[in-house]
Amino acid sequence: MPDDYNPATVADVRRLRDTLEQQGKKLVFTNGCFDLLHAGHVRYLEQARALGDAMVVALNSDQSVRQLKGPDRPLNPEHDRAEVMSALRAVDAVVVFDDERATALIEAIRPHVYAKGGDYTVESLNREERAALESAGTQICILPLVPGRSTTKTINKMQAGDSSAPGSGLLRLAVLGSGAGSNLRAIIAAIQSNTLRAEVAITLSDQADSGFREIARTAGLPALFVDGGDNPRRLSDAAQKEIFEHLERARIDVVVLAGFMRILKEPVISAYAGRIVNVHPSLLPKFKGANAPQLAIDEGELESGCTVHLVTAEIDGGRILGQAKVPVKLGDTAETLHARIKVEEHKLLPHVLNEWRERGLSVRGAVAS
Ligand code: GRF
Repeated sequence: MPDDYNPATVADVRRLRDTLEQQGKKLVFTNGCFDLLHAGHVRYLEQARALGDAMVVALNSDQSVRQLKGPDRPLNPEHDRAEVMSALRAVDAVVVFDDERATALIEAIRPHVYAKGGDYTVESLNREERAALESAGTQICILPLVPGRSTTKTINKMQAGDSSAPGSGLLRLAVLGSGAGSNLRAIIAAIQSNTLRAEVAITLSDQADSGFREIARTAGLPALFVDGGDNPRRLSDAAQKEIFEHLERARIDVVVLAGFMRILKEPVISAYAGRIVNVHPSLLPKFKGANAPQLAIDEGELESGCTVHLVTAEIDGGRILGQAKVPVKLGDTAETLHARIKVEEHKLLPHVLNEWRERGLSVRGAVAS
């Protein structure tokens, strides 16, 4: 059979929406990756379609699936996913979009109803998407997930016990950062030089334009962005959940906080207990929290340094895995001292991570000893 399928354009969908409106009917909009179609998807789509008179599915392009879910996804290319999706009876049109969020598409299409699957609440929707929906006057409907069905679950099942899976035997890291990203760069360099036997499966930042993300992108790593919410130290509940989902999907062994400026809480803290490390610019337990180099200077310390430690609910309070010292010099500013500390961080962090695997510590679900 000739391959003559083509997804709809945004203009096609907008026309469909306008025609429906003239007839007093409603267009339903939903979006997602729909990589490996399962009964949960089909049931969800049927329910979503019943909210209106026609439905458009906005499908994440291959590039945006990689950004959202990591380098191993999608399993099926966007053209195939679109073709399969358009064959479902609940789906009237499929449009492929290239961004991580569907905001621009919502603004262009102005659907009457927006359906979202999952355990979201209206409050936990992405802020920009929600603002676009509200300004288009779109009705937001959250539909429950079909229990027990998920693409990630299926993939994990298929890969379980497959020792020839790509990267097997390597520590799968998620590196989280908000700033310049020099520790991420040090991890990447250590992996490249084989002094750290690991792979960075995902990087994740709460700062869309950070140096950290730029370093990840330059290295060809998935540079995920999570909108943390308004408080620069707190992560919203939606963001805590989103991070957890990213870690689960990427089957992460160890979470590395490399200058991540917001506080991780549940569900990540419990699910990854004993498997989250942080690098902090002081000799803990001295100078926990922000501005540690300045505090060391203010206290007249003669030496400072860095600490790699496990992350628990107590800020900078988990078990210490390694430390390195540097002198505090006369005339040091917070910047000069911090720069000297970072030189040590760049050696200590990859070293501790590598020791982790060399000592044969079980990482999957176990607390490191
Ligand atoms: C490091 O000094 C680390 O100790 C602290 O944040 C800084 C991150 O630096 N938690 P960078 O973004 O890795 O350059």
